Amino acid sequence: MVENVASEMAELEAEDFYILSGLEQGMRFSEWVAREKLPEFSNLTDEEVAYRLDRCETRGLIERKTIQYVGFRLTFEGYDALALHTFAERETIEGVGAPLGVGKESDVYEVRSYKPLALKFHREGYTEFREVNREREYTADREHVSWLYTARKAAEREYETLEALYPTVSVPQPIDHNRHAIIMERVDGVELARSKLEDGQVVPVLDLILAEVAAAYDEGYVHADMSEYNVFVNSEGVTVFDWPQAVPVDHENSDDLLERDVENTVGYFQRKYPHSVAAVDTSALANAVAADSFESVREFAES
Ligand SMILES: Nc1ncnc2c1ncn2[C@@H]1O[C@H](COP(=O)(O)OP(=O)(O)OP(=O)(O)O)[C@@H](O)[C@H]1O
Ligand SMILES: [Mg+2]
Repeated sequence: MVENVASEMAELEAEDFYILSGLEQGMRFSEWVAREKLPEFSNLTDEEVAYRLDRCETRGLIERKTIQYVGFRLTFEGYDALALHTFAERETIEGVGAPLGVGKESDVYEVRSYKPLALKFHREGYTEFREVNREREYTADREHVSWLYTARKAAEREYETLEALYPTVSVPQPIDHNRHAIIMERVDGVELARSKLEDGQVVPVLDLILAEVAAAYDEGYVHADMSEYNVFVNSEGVTVFDWPQAVPVDHENSDDLLERDVENTVGYFQRKYPHSVAAVDTSALANAVAADSFESVREFAES
């Protein structure tokens, strides 16, 4: 997806971005932005708007609908283009490279900069948005909530959490964020799910991960989506990523979420390495993690 956008970026002109950001503004009020509103939103003449709409539509950056009235909206590629444009203007990135991971709710790419970085585009809200299509959600102040908003909020939350945790907790260093995108350090290593640990490494690696969970709690956060897909392992240790759903420790469910994170982490090791990891009292273990008195999972083995 974004590879299209990345290769199209060089062809896009300043006025194309006026149209894209005009649509972005219009989409704060309605899902489809009426054609006649666009000169005002984008600060372009009617003739220029027509020309720019064609260019952007051909490139898949916007979509048109003609039922009831002629309206336009940004596609995710169009929103990606806006974020990439901002990062390029700020000189945060020089170019977009290969995909690092593609999930249901995000796309992650390698980006070129002064050092290899990772770019994560949040996609939250887009899938449901497509399914419900015409249905709208309103916040308390009755603002129209589109996927742009949902994805942007998720990116903001993730970035704020990374800023709060780095470098005390082993998370990717946050570099920059804009709209639904964050730029962070690119972490080397393999996902825990794809790593094969030697017998003697199993408990030490599990302890390292739980120590990061404890450090995050001490800094005021519960990850709330701990899994073998959100941990990287390399020769230097472990890195925990994917933080948009993290909750502050004073959140009413934070202790349940912490216990679930601990259970998921320990459970994965027990299923994969049953001979190395004994059954543990996860509730006592979670308490020790929260109290920052955790040292090793071995101390919690059920006899
Ligand atoms: N900083 C990074 N460096 C290297 N690879 C990364 C980095 N961030 C993410 N990745 C890769 O991209 C994949 C997806 O990233 P992440 O887990 O953050 O999003 P996700 O699982 O799609 O998000 P969500 O849980 O919102 O669906 C990761 O599993 C990892 O392989
Ligand atoms: Mg993930």
